[in-house]
Amino acid sequence: MKGEKMLDVAKRRGFFWQSSLIHGGMAGFYDYGHVGLLLKQKFENTWRRYFLALDDNFFEIQSSLIMPEAVFKASGHLENFVDPIVKCGKCGNVERADHILEDVLEENFEGMAPDDLMALIKKHRINCGKCKGPLQEVGVFNMMFPIDVGAGKNVNRGYLTGETAQGAYVNFKLEFEALRKKLPMGLAIVGKAFRNEISPRNVLIRMREFSQAELQIFFNPKEMEQHPKFRDVENYKLKLFPVKNRKSKKIEDMPAKAAVTGLKLPEFYVYHMVQIQKFYLDVLKLPAESFRFRELSKEERAFYNKYHWDIELNLESLGGFKEVAGIHYRTDHDLGGHQRVSGESMEVNIDGEKFVPHVLELSFGVDRNVYALLDIAYTEEPDRLVLRFPRLVSPLDAGLFPLVNKDRLPEKAREIMEILKDYGFKVFYDSGGSIGRRYRRIDEIGVACGITVDYDTLKRNDVTLRDRDSMKQVRVKINELPLVLRKFLHGEGLEKLGKPLK
Ligand code: GAP
Repeated sequence: MKGEKMLDVAKRRGFFWQSSLIHGGMAGFYDYGHVGLLLKQKFENTWRRYFLALDDNFFEIQSSLIMPEAVFKASGHLENFVDPIVKCGKCGNVERADHILEDVLEENFEGMAPDDLMALIKKHRINCGKCKGPLQEVGVFNMMFPIDVGAGKNVNRGYLTGETAQGAYVNFKLEFEALRKKLPMGLAIVGKAFRNEISPRNVLIRMREFSQAELQIFFNPKEMEQHPKFRDVENYKLKLFPVKNRKSKKIEDMPAKAAVTGLKLPEFYVYHMVQIQKFYLDVLKLPAESFRFRELSKEERAFYNKYHWDIELNLESLGGFKEVAGIHYRTDHDLGGHQRVSGESMEVNIDGEKFVPHVLELSFGVDRNVYALLDIAYTEEPDRLVLRFPRLVSPLDAGLFPLVNKDRLPEKAREIMEILKDYGFKVFYDSGGSIGRRYRRIDEIGVACGITVDYDTLKRNDVTLRDRDSMKQVRVKINELPLVLRKFLHGEGLEKLGKPLK
């Protein structure tokens, strides 16, 4: 129900909708409208600002979306990037076997071996969801999108990349040489990934073309057990859902140092878990109860991971916690694979020690995070619908309204808008309808605040600033507005920012 209402707002207000809709659309592809793209860009830029600042040897790069076959032979994707599928013997419909079970038994079966899935399908006598026909044996399906590059004799087999990560691995050595030849070194890519998902579902959650923001941290494996700044975070309480708690469903608040000693996770890994949790709770300011790390069992882990915890957010529209990101210790799986297949050495030489670096990957699905932000923000109040996005990632920073469309108020409002735009703020000008209606419009797209220009503005050079969430208002001097707005977006209480209005 909430999901349907959210999608209605998403479409009506310019967030997102199915791609190529006028031609009937295609499952698993979505387009962003003007407001949705602003929200997505705010998330990506907040992510960049935060994660690239973790170390002064972390940088963003950009790589091709189509890569040669050798890349995915080396990474193991051609062999292992598969999902279990099952076909109906009557209507021929093909579905993901684990999803069929999940729908019926309301449990997560991701990562389960095809034979075990088949056994469960038989045990629970599950038939085709479409025609109730009998299901055939569970098989596997590779999710990579092949693509022919070139023509005639010169055609080469390429693939659309299934994750941004490979772009960082194939560029590792070149960047290492071009940079400071120092580890840890981080390479971030914010870009597209493509997967031929068998059953795309839940809108932006499982798509065939989607965006990721991934940071690959290359490091000396000998330094896995310690992190120089671990003491700063050792008492920070992580919200953990370890495999052993699957039955009890208990989420534990566990100090970082207890995750190292009790769960036997390396310091380097736990340090970055803390940074991820802080990103969600302190920067995005999401409610603590909506966040958890979920440990994946050996069977559930991606084929390249030694340690693998997902970041999950509790999404009411989807009935519970859903994965939005992951923290993956990929060992030397990828650099080792590229070294083997390309014949190029991936070794570094640091102070006479030669080794192939290991990789810790912080991997975020951008679209899933956008969907999650919308779910958490969506609030129905008695007399308004409001999207309470965290202020920093609200699609627009402020709505700017002249109280009436005459007496020099529109000119003054436009003057103020130009000042704010010069400072880099995203501002939305609206002069149509009553001021109440204009507030409702910006509430429904989650604009962080409203600024009203009235007759007093002309006399006293100040404006009214209205907080979207509390609807409280303060009076602010125009020359202080850029600084006040910046503080407001970073979470400062309204009462500290101006003279309160009744
Ligand atoms: N480089 C590692 C990697 O790609 P993953 O768990 O397959 O790991 C990382 O994907 C994140 O990308 C997920 O946590 C999720 O947020 C997002 N993601 C994965 N598949 C997706 C899909 N089909 N549609 C939308 N987002 C997806």
